[in-house]
Amino acid sequence: MKNKIAVHMRPGRHRSYDILIKAGGLKTLPSIIRKKWPGRRIFLVTDTNVSRLYAKNLQHAFDDVGIDSALFEVPAGEETKSIDIYYALIGALLESGIKRNSLVIALGGGVVGDLAGFAAATVLRGVEFIQVPTSLLAQVDSSVGGKVGIDHDAGKNLIGAFHQPSFVLIDPTVLRTLPVMEFRNGLAEVVKIAAALDADFFRFLERNTSRITRTNARFLARVICRAVSLKAAVVEKDERESGLRKSLNLGHTIGHAIEATSDFTMKHGEAVSIGLVAESQLAVAAGLLAVDDYLRLSRLLVQCNLPAKVPSGINEKRFFRSLSVDKKNTGSEPSFVLLRRIGVSLIGVRLPLPRIQALLR
Ligand SMILES: NC(=O)c1ccc[n+]([C@@H]2O[C@H](COP(=O)([O-])OP(=O)(O)OC[C@H]3O[C@@H](n4cnc5c(N)ncnc54)[C@H](O)[C@@H]3O)[C@@H](O)[C@H]2O)c1
Ligand SMILES: [Zn+2]
Repeated sequence: MKNKIAVHMRPGRHRSYDILIKAGGLKTLPSIIRKKWPGRRIFLVTDTNVSRLYAKNLQHAFDDVGIDSALFEVPAGEETKSIDIYYALIGALLESGIKRNSLVIALGGGVVGDLAGFAAATVLRGVEFIQVPTSLLAQVDSSVGGKVGIDHDAGKNLIGAFHQPSFVLIDPTVLRTLPVMEFRNGLAEVVKIAAALDADFFRFLERNTSRITRTNARFLARVICRAVSLKAAVVEKDERESGLRKSLNLGHTIGHAIEATSDFTMKHGEAVSIGLVAESQLAVAAGLLAVDDYLRLSRLLVQCNLPAKVPSGINEKRFFRSLSVDKKNTGSEPSFVLLRRIGVSLIGVRLPLPRIQALLR
């Protein structure tokens, strides 16, 4: 099985990079770095959970091959994507002597990837960085594509940049320690990618749901590889999300609004799962999607232990306010990515609010 994906960004080959997906790959990182980035100092950023499990060992492994590294630990959780922690991290990197030719490594979930990536994009006007994602969500979604950033009180991910990594190393064996809830979170994005872009991959997931477990690293490597290849192909064609990349927002228009209405107590993947189902109901009602495809999608999500129903008692007013302030909406009516059939999606479909209201009720 091919486990290396080359991402070719335009313009210029210097922005191209490899993604390596390999069970046990984390152990090989020091030797890869010694070979490809000889003599560079490493600034390893991680969170408190991942530090305990993996970062300290990784730092020892760097020592063993004579690579100089410094470790920076941030608290685990979304609150870490804040201006205060970003500022403190930049301070710590500078104090430890970061230079333009240093290498930042983000070892952790999407929070660490987004924060460390944004720090790398901005400190000294930008240094190279490597993504070593450790949550399923980060492995299939956030580590690929170059979006980095932090949150603002006005909303999530409102401060950020496009800064492509120089290398992405994905080791599915680290998922065995990921909490089950977090694993499901990532599965929602896998189902989204398959539903939006690839009917064969979707069928593969339907046939193999029982094999997708946190400890089945070899099988997960196959799943992650398919998902990442699809995302990388989209990002190559449309880095800045002016067209095709929007298809990756399938389920996210309603998903984001549900997440925001829950004051972010609901996990992103659960909200996306509900969003995928609700948006495909909208697609059926709009005459775009066959009922059978809608049923396949909701069945697969339920088999992955993800929710498929809008929670009862949702605050409608807040929900619709969130729907219309979503940063990806440019007009007054919310814009959706809707399924035409499994594997084929339409972007920029505007639907009148009353139709969405009727569905929610
Ligand atoms: N940049 C992008 O394109 C993009 C795309 C999607 C999501 N995101 C961002 O990603 C973030 C969510 O990422 P996430 O779901 O990975 O959250 P996270 O980084 O908070 O990780 C979830 C939890 O799992 C823990 N963890 C991570 N790996 C572990 C492991 N191997 N073993 C045990 N525990 C582990 C973390 O410490 C944390 O407690 C959000 O901030 C979101 O905005 C970014
Ligand atoms: Zn998402």
